[in-house]
Amino acid sequence: MELMQGLITRRSVRQYTDQRVSDADITEIVTAGMYAPSARHQLIWEFVVITDREKLKKLSEGLHTAPMAKSAAFGVAVCADLSRAASPDYWDQDCAAATQNILLACHDKGLGAVWVGMYPHAEREDVVKGICGIPAEIRVQSLILAGHPAAPARQEDRFDEHKIRFNDWND
Ligand SMILES: Cc1cc2nc3c(=O)[nH]c(=O)nc-3n(C[C@H](O)[C@H](O)[C@H](O)COP(=O)(O)O)c2cc1C
Repeated sequence: MELMQGLITRRSVRQYTDQRVSDADITEIVTAGMYAPSARHQLIWEFVVITDREKLKKLSEGLHTAPMAKSAAFGVAVCADLSRAASPDYWDQDCAAATQNILLACHDKGLGAVWVGMYPHAEREDVVKGICGIPAEIRVQSLILAGHPAAPARQEDRFDEHKIRFNDWND
């Protein structure tokens, strides 16, 4: 898929078919996360892939923001190990960039995915940590849920010339 076309046509997808996604495809998708920019190239992200149906069901029950987890083919918890951080204040921005890369890689493979926010909601991070055995000191920035889309994604025109200013706010 051409990059700009992919950027414009990516939509959050929350309904999936029963079709599963191979471990090889999931690994390739998560690899895209590792190519995101990171502050001082600190590479402190860690990715926990969730394919276990019982765990996905538990996530759907424990997170009121993610009922679709039970029907997702897989999830990815995008985490950070701050003990290795060169620029600790930027961990969440690094992980957000990785999250977006993963969403786009899913789209490139014809999968649908959605970003479920975790940080700064500690109680949501704790749900994911508890279900996936993630140590207390590791942070969870987002949970991505993905699968084969149950329906074509809606498209919309978001271009707004008034959102772009050249050189001066009052332009
Ligand atoms: C930081 C962040 C947190 C989000 N959290 C959730 C969430 O908890 N549950 C959910 O269904 N979607 C969540 N989303 C997806 C947004 O609802 C979605 O991106 C937005 O409605 C725009 O739609 P689009 O992704 O199709 O462009 C989140 C998106 C971001 C960037």
